[in-house]
Amino acid sequence: MDRESTKKKIENLREEIEHHNKLYYDDSENIISDYEYDLKMNELISLEKKFPEFSLSTSPSLKVGGKITKDFKTFKHSTQMLSLSNTYSDEDLNDFDKRIKKLLDSNDIEYICELKYDGVALSILYEDKKLKRTLTRGDGKYGDDISNNALTIKTLPIKLNSNENLNIEVRGEAFISKSNFHLLNKEKEKNNEQLFSNPRNTASGSLKLQDSSEVAKRKINCFIYSLNSDIDGIYTQEEGLNYLKEIGFNVPNTYEKCNNIDEVKTYIRKWEDKRNYLDVETDGIVIKVNNLKYQKKLGNTSKSPRWAIAYKYKAESKVTKVKDILFQVGRTGAVTPVAILEPVKIGGSVVKRASLHNHNEIRRLDIRLNDYVNIEKGGEIIPKITSVIKEKREIGSKEFIFTKNCPSCGSSLIIKNKQAVSYCKNDLLCRPQIYGRIEHFISKNAMDIEHIGPETIKGLVDREIINNASDLYKIKFDDIINLEFKLNDGEKIRSLKEKSCNNIIDSIKISKSKPFSNLLFALGIRYVGKTTAEKLTSHFSNIDKLINADFDEIISVDEVGDKIAESIIKYFSDKKNIELVNSLKNSGLIFSEKIQEFESNKLDSLVFVVSGSFSSFSREELQEKIKLNGGKVSKSLSSKTNYLVFGDNMGPKKKIKAKELNIKMISESEFISMI
Ligand code: IVH
Repeated sequence: MDRESTKKKIENLREEIEHHNKLYYDDSENIISDYEYDLKMNELISLEKKFPEFSLSTSPSLKVGGKITKDFKTFKHSTQMLSLSNTYSDEDLNDFDKRIKKLLDSNDIEYICELKYDGVALSILYEDKKLKRTLTRGDGKYGDDISNNALTIKTLPIKLNSNENLNIEVRGEAFISKSNFHLLNKEKEKNNEQLFSNPRNTASGSLKLQDSSEVAKRKINCFIYSLNSDIDGIYTQEEGLNYLKEIGFNVPNTYEKCNNIDEVKTYIRKWEDKRNYLDVETDGIVIKVNNLKYQKKLGNTSKSPRWAIAYKYKAESKVTKVKDILFQVGRTGAVTPVAILEPVKIGGSVVKRASLHNHNEIRRLDIRLNDYVNIEKGGEIIPKITSVIKEKREIGSKEFIFTKNCPSCGSSLIIKNKQAVSYCKNDLLCRPQIYGRIEHFISKNAMDIEHIGPETIKGLVDREIINNASDLYKIKFDDIINLEFKLNDGEKIRSLKEKSCNNIIDSIKISKSKPFSNLLFALGIRYVGKTTAEKLTSHFSNIDKLINADFDEIISVDEVGDKIAESIIKYFSDKKNIELVNSLKNSGLIFSEKIQEFESNKLDSLVFVVSGSFSSFSREELQEKIKLNGGKVSKSLSSKTNYLVFGDNMGPKKKIKAKELNIKMISESEFISMI
């Protein structure tokens, strides 16, 4: 390579790496595998080393991570949070071992091997044994203060188990377990929401949410892997880990001391397959010099410690053939290309198809019919086609052209600005869009109409018994009795018998009393998820107020931003959506918040806190009763609180605080007699 093209190559690599850094750290998204990323980074580092005249102080090779998120307070890390340099081979490990021995001038080096958990790095500070502050890595020097969100991590001790007044800092990895990730996505599926892509991104995205109660639902866990403070009597990483365990941290029992690099290699082989059976995603092994004095002596480069290295396992990859490329239409009209593959076993499951996402992905891969492709399944739920094996391509193969027409209804597709996504705009007649909208309408968190599955919907739409959600409420027994439709892509036929028909009709009837927020969510307005629907319905007490609201009023609602407001306005400016709402209203569905009758002003201006569980009411009902009788409800005790209504299992802290503040405590029956 001549000087000019080397310079160009370096610049291109920097640009590419910056792009992926931004996606990974700021948007919690990754579109290339860690292996591909590392290859690019290693190439950049070696070119910069060979051609120091092109080195640059702002090169991504010298940086640790992304920038800092805006919405959290930032703090400087006590010591920089570095990365680890990555290796993929035994030769690299031998080089690492030789380097360490040379620098320490010793042949007798002990290592500690740990699993490399794939999550989000945290630095956690304890003052006087108490959890004081939790920071993300941020840019390595400054991190975001996500203390409130970290409080939702049940395995992170709030107080340390020690007799001494400990002031320490520890570091670890927050993550979402595989099983929990699966449950979270099941819930998303039920709500017809877009699925989380992988546990790592979900953990990182969750810790950056502003609402901690939302974070708590994600059930984040945390493994601690290092003590970042000097403690008397602790001279090795192994002693550090044992100590961390003793004082209450969640330290997994998978670490092992190795007396030489060959034992390290044995540890690596041992976990290569076994790690797939753990409930946490891991992407390699971390090898650390055990002796802390040696660690200090070896020190760090600007990017990573010299005393540690990561051995990364390659994501399992297989070669298979592309039998076909089909296009699928979703409920919003988005058309997604899907590769139909020669079935292949990978990561414990058989893969038959892989999403190709959009135009850009097809162009990036230059994928064609009958091509052989490399497919990978890392932590992702969906397997990824990483590259095409061009050498195996059949002679005369033609570039694959993205369809210009909807694969279902044939109408011309449009490509939305800036996005590489094609849409079918024939939403009124295009069948998959109709099925999708109705499936969403009846889903669990929407109208929760049991006894109707996707096949039934398809059958009802195809026979023109229903065409939109409001038609569901017009279905009569005679319309559907003995109706036959295909199951499993046409292999089996099912016929609706009397019992099924009654069940369907009953569950449709029951759904009429679903609250306004379920109904608003059921309409399927883009970006209006269940939580947003709840916020909107508690602000706008009926649908007409929302339909007539302007942009400013809509964005004044808690957690509703420009994108959602624009989408709502667009939805209601469409005549057919207003017709749908009117038709649903005519069928007796409730497009307004329940109006509560004011009962009395017996509790006028009194402030109540409610704690524990009760026999005559749920906690929410009791709080509602207070409001209906003129009182106010507060979440926490303060000098302004007048009464604490206590039920069974009230938290002991509340009791102590109530005593301290001299607040009157009353039982459920005392409360009832007050009203
Ligand atoms: S020790 C670099 N041990 O890997 C400072 N890191 O690329 C020493 N990680 O950000 C880190 N498991 O969050 C260490 N057992 C482990 C780890 C681990 C995962 C993460 C860590 C760090 C990243 C380094």
